[in-house]
Amino acid sequence: MDFESLSADLRSLQARALKEIAEVSDPASLEALQIQYLGKKGDLTAVLRGIGALPAEDRPRVGAVANEVGEAVKGALAVRGAELHAQVQALRLASEKVDVTLPGRPVGRGTLHPIPETIAAITEVFGQFGFVVYEGPEVEDDLTNFQMLNMPPDHPARDLWDTLYVDIPGHLLRTHTSPGQMRVMQTTRPPIRALLPGRCFRYEAVDASHGFEFFQVEGLMVDEGTSMADLKGLLDEFAHALFGPRKTRFRPGYYPFTEPSVAFDVECVVCGGVGCPACSKSGWMTILGAGMVHPVVLQYGGIDPERYQGFAFGMGVERIANLRHAVPDLRYYLENDLRFLDQFR
Ligand code: PHE
Repeated sequence: MDFESLSADLRSLQARALKEIAEVSDPASLEALQIQYLGKKGDLTAVLRGIGALPAEDRPRVGAVANEVGEAVKGALAVRGAELHAQVQALRLASEKVDVTLPGRPVGRGTLHPIPETIAAITEVFGQFGFVVYEGPEVEDDLTNFQMLNMPPDHPARDLWDTLYVDIPGHLLRTHTSPGQMRVMQTTRPPIRALLPGRCFRYEAVDASHGFEFFQVEGLMVDEGTSMADLKGLLDEFAHALFGPRKTRFRPGYYPFTEPSVAFDVECVVCGGVGCPACSKSGWMTILGAGMVHPVVLQYGGIDPERYQGFAFGMGVERIANLRHAVPDLRYYLENDLRFLDQFR
């Protein structure tokens, strides 16, 4: 090994390194080259191992060449590194480019589900007549859902409400909001004007007009001298507020907890009373059940029926919402399909 051949090795190493560095196209490969040439176990170090075999006077000269080669390779690495960095940066900037002149994207606004929206519309009307919103529990006891509403065990009228029972003895899922009447009477004193919206449950085969869970709004008014005429006047105001100026009527009905009991009909909101499939050609639609609170029920509520009279009414919210929005099937309300809900914006 002599000075000439060693410095020739160094120069060819330099040439090879500079060529490879110039050809590299990504930062990771560039770093690999840096390790390959300048690392502790790199090619330059390997060549310099030959220095020891040289005569003492040649060693500084080879050292100088080695330094030059090292500096040249380092310089080439730095230049190529800067170039690659600039390239990567330019690509990133291009891909992340934001056109600030584009118009903004609209943010979708949420909206009330049609059931709470309808409950709000109902409570708003009765609110104007001084009715206050109360809520009763969804898991009720048999006493409040039936017995205190004048339906002792085995009363045949219980069959009107197919009941879902729960594992707690004497308890059930309320089949209507009427037990709320009892809870209000037991906790407040007349004059009472209460509105009770809430979810109800029935053991029912599900179809377009029946659900096993659904919503009702109950109304209760108790005061001295409350009459059927007050009930009719109030319900007329309600029907007109929701469905416009239409004829209304009472038909005889039956509920164990009201006497007399009525069905409240509104002139068909689809055909205006002429007769159409929506009203079964009758020209009328029943929108709720109502009546004068049965004296026995007032007594269970701790109210003296000699002094006070009351009326009550109860309506299905889905039915009202169907009429307001021409919804053909109440199953839509529970599915929460956005294609349905989006129509109520
Ligand atoms: N609770 C009755 C029902 O579920 C409706 C009703 C309420 C009738 C109040 C009269 C008075 O059908």
